[in-house]
Amino acid sequence: PLVTSKELFENAYKGKYAVGAFNVNNMEIIQGIVDAAKEEGSPIILQVSAGARKYANPIYLRKLVEAAVEDTDLPIVLHLDHGDSFEICKQCIDDGFTSVMIDASHHSFEENIEITKKVVDYAHSKGVVVEAELGRLAGVEDDVNVSAEDASYTNPEQAVEFVKRTGVDSLAIAIGTSHGAYKFKGEPKLDFDRLAKISSLLPNFPLVLHGASTVLPEFVEMCNQYGGNIPGAQGVPEEMLTQAASLGVCKINIDTDLRLAMTAAIRKELIENPGEFDPRKYLGPGRNAIKKMVQHKIKNVLKSSNSI
Ligand code: G3H
Ligand code: 13P
Ligand code: ZN
Ligand code: NA
Repeated sequence: PLVTSKELFENAYKGKYAVGAFNVNNMEIIQGIVDAAKEEGSPIILQVSAGARKYANPIYLRKLVEAAVEDTDLPIVLHLDHGDSFEICKQCIDDGFTSVMIDASHHSFEENIEITKKVVDYAHSKGVVVEAELGRLAGVEDDVNVSAEDASYTNPEQAVEFVKRTGVDSLAIAIGTSHGAYKFKGEPKLDFDRLAKISSLLPNFPLVLHGASTVLPEFVEMCNQYGGNIPGAQGVPEEMLTQAASLGVCKINIDTDLRLAMTAAIRKELIENPGEFDPRKYLGPGRNAIKKMVQHKIKNVLKSSNSI
């Protein structure tokens, strides 16, 4: 069934695991993720960005997710990723999403609270849950110094005030992750002390980790081997994600790893079979690569297998 993340997060919090939130924008990606979750008996969050809505047309995505829900007994959440205004959140809520993210983290603290609160009031009146964000995800910087960290990473006391004043259901925090394939130039490093502090000040409250792809070397190498050019890509080591999941992080966002897995498989297929031009012959292996990667994440990293 299509569900909100409320109960999923309660269980994840207690069990010290995390539910994977995977970005979707076409049929093969959705099928790969859902097939993996089926085999693992795991709940999943399928999330749609503004860019995905624009690419696929909101109706197509909604209907594809509806098909996935019909195709399985798994709890599935349909979530808006990085909604940047009340209007887009309202539209998704009216369209049947069970969860929305209002990302007003680039606004001032007070404005972030005001916008988030407005979304929460509307969402809750329709039985929909809301994720917000406080702090800014780091860009790729050589050395993020301590004062820069303090300015952009989530402030623990502010997080408590933010949650109390907005009534938000979950909160995305900034502790050193970033979006995309180039997260660290040197050693990967996350501020786990900060995470532990936030988590201890907000007991039983689900935190969210964005920018959580690992940028699996296997797929980067496969892309590069078959004509790609993705030098110096680096993500969050998987053991750090497992650690975060044990510290109150209940939702872990993964998009880049899906993109890399699918692209690596398609590149290989096209190079190895130059006479082939049936899209199913390369989209199929792309879908398989996603399924295998997601199954590995669920089982070995997020640890949400057999949790329904
Ligand atoms: O956080 C961003 C997600 O990876 C979605 O990316 O806006 O290119 O669809 P997108
Ligand atoms: P990655 O780019 O690390 O996959 O992060 C995805 C994300 O946070 C989507 O909101
Ligand atoms: Zn994100
Ligand atoms: Na967790």
